[in-house]
Amino acid sequence: MTARAGRFISFEGIDGAGKSSHIERVSEWLRERGHEVVQTREPGGTPLAELLREAVLHRPMDTLTETLLVFAARRDHLAQVIEPALARGSMVVCDRFTDASFAYQGGGRGLDAQVLASLETWVQQGRQPDLTIWIDLPATIAAQRRAAVRAPDRFEEQDLPFFERVRAGYAARAAQAPGRFARIDALGGIDQVWHRICAVLESRACW
Ligand code: TYD
Repeated sequence: MTARAGRFISFEGIDGAGKSSHIERVSEWLRERGHEVVQTREPGGTPLAELLREAVLHRPMDTLTETLLVFAARRDHLAQVIEPALARGSMVVCDRFTDASFAYQGGGRGLDAQVLASLETWVQQGRQPDLTIWIDLPATIAAQRRAAVRAPDRFEEQDLPFFERVRAGYAARAAQAPGRFARIDALGGIDQVWHRICAVLESRACW
């Protein structure tokens, strides 16, 4: 365990951008520097939140229900895992966080951003990631990468315009918080993308 303050890193991007393959490497990069790392995901990260994830990904529901479940999962995740980990000085590496709600429920599904902003305030009590690594890829290319992989869930089965709106949702959030967001161009090979992520980590010099 480290005496330094905990840090909260989130990963974002449209489905198929290749985010998952880099999360493990970032956790390893941090462990090599002596940190305790809690690697987790949203929706999910606690037994209750994983139950909610299963419903959100596979059961039919309207957009507001979906949003409330995602934020309920987030509340449990923050209280049970994220806040305690940060309090003991750990690094929290989280596969998606609230920017995904703005991008998917807001951009993709068209939910009012003010509703999302209210939920964000209520649920997070000021907590935000210290760094958000946004793995960005055009929706057409992400769709090609997704096609080969597996049976789609309720989000992955959406059409190209949906993912273009999700991507635009991420771009809008990044523009609102440029100091927190690092946009990573996901075009190119996995090692090329990794080097771009590494450059961002090294440039922050807060590890
Ligand atoms: P994802 O993170 O891509 O996991 P996997 O790699 O196992 O598919 O899947 C989670 C899905 O949940 C993704 O399609 C985006 C969606 N999602 C939302 O719609 N809103 C949210 O707030 C979060 C956290 C995720």
